[in-house]
Amino acid sequence: MALTPRKVVIIGAGHVGSHAGYALVSQGLAEQIVYIDIDEEKAKAQALDIFDSTVYLPHHVNVKAGNYSDAADADLMVIAAGPLPDISKFQTRMDTLAETVAIMKNVVENIKNSGFKGIIISISNPADVVAHYIQNQLNYPPSRLISTSTTLDSARLRRALSEATGIDQKSIYAYALGEHGESQMVPWSVVTIAGKPILELIKEKPEKYGNLDLKAIAAEGKAGGWHVLKGKGSTEFGIGASIAEVTRAIFADEKRVLPVSVLLNGEYGQYDVYASVPAVLGINGVEEIIELHMKAEEKEEFDKSCKTMKENYEIALTL
Ligand code: 2OP
Repeated sequence: MALTPRKVVIIGAGHVGSHAGYALVSQGLAEQIVYIDIDEEKAKAQALDIFDSTVYLPHHVNVKAGNYSDAADADLMVIAAGPLPDISKFQTRMDTLAETVAIMKNVVENIKNSGFKGIIISISNPADVVAHYIQNQLNYPPSRLISTSTTLDSARLRRALSEATGIDQKSIYAYALGEHGESQMVPWSVVTIAGKPILELIKEKPEKYGNLDLKAIAAEGKAGGWHVLKGKGSTEFGIGASIAEVTRAIFADEKRVLPVSVLLNGEYGQYDVYASVPAVLGINGVEEIIELHMKAEEKEEFDKSCKTMKENYEIALTL
């Protein structure tokens, strides 16, 4: 069988798209990257800038600007087109729905005509609702269309937990689930340090863990994106690394569990909604959804988050 280079098409050459590409390039996760943007000059400039960096990077990667015909034989597509929430107008990610859907109408038509058959990672905000909208419009196999969604919020949550406990974030298992946005929740009953539930640690070692303010930690994780947006006008490195992590899990067939937005059809008692839950990622995309046993009040929060996404998805279909 002939070997083929791994090819990734990135739709949107803005802050997020460029950092996604750079993360893939610097980690050697693709051999070909093609940027597509309605601003062709920008796509060319981003591609050139990233390609120049490869001279001093360990992996050979061709980075160029192109068009949707480049998607026909691509393995993966990252959709990163659309606005960031405008913090001066106190916009949430969900408030950008109409603007993003207007952009996605064109993107969807182009994907339909491109012959693309690979895996889609959609990160345009509001991430979960937009992923669902694209999946519906393309009638795409849901296991092959996901959003990074709370992969990023979970990183921010682990950072907040690490700051509060003094334990390295890589030794902490913690997920933000539901929406990549305001209604996200943390199932504390399954948060562990070295495999030990944090709720047990709080009881067993009150001198070290007794003062943990779990509500404040969850809020700090959720606020992470706003801190970054407020300080520099865009978030980019965190999402770039999140995309790279999901891409590696897929390309390397890792069967790695990451919290990503997937179409729920019965899991967690939810139907026809994209929400972030732990999923096994491999060469086929989402290969399994892991159902966590949440406490009743956690499940209530998760259901509430799903309701928000469902309502906004219904709105998206009317736009
Ligand atoms: C982020 O959370 C704004 O969705 C973007 O970084």
